[in-house]
Amino acid sequence: MNVLQLSPDTKQQSPEEFNTRLWAVGGGKGGVGKSIVSLNLAYWLAKLGHKVVLVDADLGGANLHTLLGMKFVQHTLSDYLSKKVDSLDKIAIDTPVPGLRLICGASDIVGLANPKYAQKMKLMRAMTLLKADHLILDLGAGTDYNTLDFFLYCTYKVAVITPQPTALQNGYGFIKSALYRAINRAFERNLRLEPLIKRATGQNLNDPIATMEELTEAFAEVDEGYAKRLKEIISNFHLYLISNMVKKDKDRKAAEIIRTVCQKYLNLDQVTLLGNIPYDNQIEECVARMSPAFMTNTKSQSALEFYQLVNSVIKESNDSERGNRITPTA
Ligand SMILES: Nc1ncnc2c1ncn2[C@@H]1O[C@H](COP(=O)(O)OP(=O)(O)OP(=O)(O)O)[C@@H](O)[C@H]1O
Ligand SMILES: [Mg+2]
Repeated sequence: MNVLQLSPDTKQQSPEEFNTRLWAVGGGKGGVGKSIVSLNLAYWLAKLGHKVVLVDADLGGANLHTLLGMKFVQHTLSDYLSKKVDSLDKIAIDTPVPGLRLICGASDIVGLANPKYAQKMKLMRAMTLLKADHLILDLGAGTDYNTLDFFLYCTYKVAVITPQPTALQNGYGFIKSALYRAINRAFERNLRLEPLIKRATGQNLNDPIATMEELTEAFAEVDEGYAKRLKEIISNFHLYLISNMVKKDKDRKAAEIIRTVCQKYLNLDQVTLLGNIPYDNQIEECVARMSPAFMTNTKSQSALEFYQLVNSVIKESNDSERGNRITPTA
């Protein structure tokens, strides 16, 4: 049985109809703080009065419930995917934080390792039917297609990086993989473009294409329309960066480095730095104790930073929605 054949509530409706803001928190490397960031975003959004569903989309190592201090969970995504329950609302369990519900991952699911693209999109659409202002996906480490496809589906694409050089390389690698996954999907089975994309993604080292600029020129030589489409994909890719475990002043440059490299090699102009989260001993201690206290402790520097970060995102998105409403359309 294919576990990803979904239940009847999976209607074809767009997120906009429910006004659910979709967030995905990714980043190539394990242990950079994706789960801690997801949890804090969810916590502060809920504290500010929003209805939030946090989804443990780390299919290999679901752990958000323990970070929330919940030892046992009644339902997980498995129950929905295997049709034990017929709606995602039934597996979105209440957490100790008012306004915040959690969907636990499905690490035990066989067959989920390689679901078809359409099935993943169906699952995402089903998630957008949840009654929530915000849906936050905590993604697993790595750049497998599942992770990238969930990341690409969401409006708020948050990449978590840490300042060490190797981690930066890894973070850039994740962003590049995500962008190229979007490009690959858009030009799938185009036999004239495939070899060019392979040259740009290191699959043909004899004749590499080093930058997105060069790739765009190569596309234009095949057909101006392809180059135009490529530029659209790139300009629609709005990335948000969070630099985590920042210890020294010079660590604060990490996100700027990523932004510059994304601009130079990927032509990405829309990279927003959301914040620098300091290294905070309390996080480690609380994680070890399975206590979510680090989020609520107002003396914790990371809590303050997360609070400010969420506040400014909400303000910015409210402003732009308001702007969209008053800007007359052509
Ligand atoms: N700002 C921080 N200050 C101190 N420690 C932190 C901070 N952020 C995360 N940590 C520590 O790093 C550990 C890993 O964090 P987390 O589980 O969020 O990483 P992850 O990227 O989700 O990892 P995985 O890829 O394995 O899911 C946490 O258990 C915590 O101890
Ligand atoms: Mg994690």
